[in-house]
Amino acid sequence: MLELTAKVHDESRQGEAFSPFENDVNEYRKKFYIESYGCQMNFSDSEIVASILNNEGFGATRNFEDADLVLLNTCSIREKAEQTVRKRLTEFRKIKEAKPGMLIGVLGCMAERLKSKFLEEEKLVDIVVGPDAYRSLPGLIEEAETGQKAVNVLLSREETYADISPVRLDSNGVTAFISIMRGCNNMCSFCVVPFTRGRERSRDTYSIVAEAQNLFERGFREVTLLGQNVDSYYWIDETTSPVGRGSEEAVTFAKLLEKVALVHPDLRVRFSTSHPKDITEEVLQTMANYKNICKYIHLPVQSGSTRILQLMNRTYTREWYMAKVKQIREIIPDCGISSDIISGFCTETEDDHDDTLSIMEYSKYDMSYMFIYSERPGTLAARRYKDDVEESIKKRRLQEIVELQNRLSLESNKRDIGKTFEVLIEGDSKRSASDWMGRNTKNKVIVFPKGNYNYKKGDYVFVKVNDCTQATLLGEAVINKP
Ligand code: SAH
Ligand code: SF4
Ligand code: F3S
Repeated sequence: MLELTAKVHDESRQGEAFSPFENDVNEYRKKFYIESYGCQMNFSDSEIVASILNNEGFGATRNFEDADLVLLNTCSIREKAEQTVRKRLTEFRKIKEAKPGMLIGVLGCMAERLKSKFLEEEKLVDIVVGPDAYRSLPGLIEEAETGQKAVNVLLSREETYADISPVRLDSNGVTAFISIMRGCNNMCSFCVVPFTRGRERSRDTYSIVAEAQNLFERGFREVTLLGQNVDSYYWIDETTSPVGRGSEEAVTFAKLLEKVALVHPDLRVRFSTSHPKDITEEVLQTMANYKNICKYIHLPVQSGSTRILQLMNRTYTREWYMAKVKQIREIIPDCGISSDIISGFCTETEDDHDDTLSIMEYSKYDMSYMFIYSERPGTLAARRYKDDVEESIKKRRLQEIVELQNRLSLESNKRDIGKTFEVLIEGDSKRSASDWMGRNTKNKVIVFPKGNYNYKKGDYVFVKVNDCTQATLLGEAVINKP
């Protein structure tokens, strides 16, 4: 799952028409400001929170100094992620000193991990809410308004927020995320997520398809189905009424993908993240069968060494992973594949590290998120193994991994020169308003001049690639299909 640190007031936002900010804020009795850290699940949760707060008379603002309620949706995945949040809280302290009525709330994984300890450690925090307790926010705000500290970090086995329609906070009006499940049952030994997000549960299929449908009708052209482990999506309709929705057949991830793909051929479908052990042949076949299911899989390997994978509790071996990559390439030729890689996990030797480099070469990743191992309190690894790889070695190995990935990304992009791709336009290129930026099915970013064509955001365009950098394909719009 990709990790991002973005702010809701990000300058790059487009799609003003969908913005919940500015235009309607005066209709609300109070203002809230929300900043999200961590993975897309958190960004998606912030949109649920925004919806809950809107119903309570809180409008969103991009300026935290104007806000009555400031919320930080936090991440615990690595120590650095938590430090970033602490730093941000120090900045908010100054503002709160000048504006004592302002409430500060901490949401998300760090809230869940630290629970009420947060209130002892960070005295300026008024509200602490875990990822499954956002429905209780209105009550907690009321409590905090009377000067009490308010906490709810209960995890749930059922909560999926299926009935809450997210308020799209920073939308480009073209692409959106749909959360399809919550929690994780996997217990990778390095990972804090099972502790902060609780048990895995899947969201009602009907509400997912309805959300996709609604987004399409509002002009969106791409949805990404989100979960920590999307391939274990599993939902059974238990309503047995003959007039009701009533099928008892289980919906697997492959079936869900198909249902969302059928919403409209012009709605692209993506998903993230796939645990290599769970992505089935049926999912791959479904991807191959539908043109609008994007040919891109984020398939985190973590390490290329079977011994380390075992310590990580990933439940696959190096060979098994390589066979999976081969199967993907057979069923979906030219599929984009990306990865997450951890450098310097407990006991990792130079040989283990070399195994990671060689599996990267084998898999020819188009892109990777690469991290130094960070021990997280309470995880299996923290309890069982010593974090014994020296920091300088971890860093050197990470550097080698990054350099290799840079080369692989460039090689992958060079292989695409001369090809023509269908591109969904997401907006202006960051560099220049005279260029469009979009993605192809493999999730590669393509930039091309607007020229004299009358294209707009959300259009599909054929673009011929004639150059590239390591991160971007550069091309020109062409009229004819390849
Ligand atoms: N559910 C996703 C991962 C979510 S966390 C999956 O299974 O792929 C995103 C990535 O952060 C992980 O894939 C892993 O590479 C990295 N990560 C998780 N815990 C970490 C830790 N303790 N130290 C360093 N990186 C970590
Ligand atoms: Fe963490 Fe593993 Fe679950 Fe991903 S699959 S969230 S890495 S425990
Ligand atoms: Fe996501 Fe960070 Fe939580 S990666 S699930 S926000 S710990």
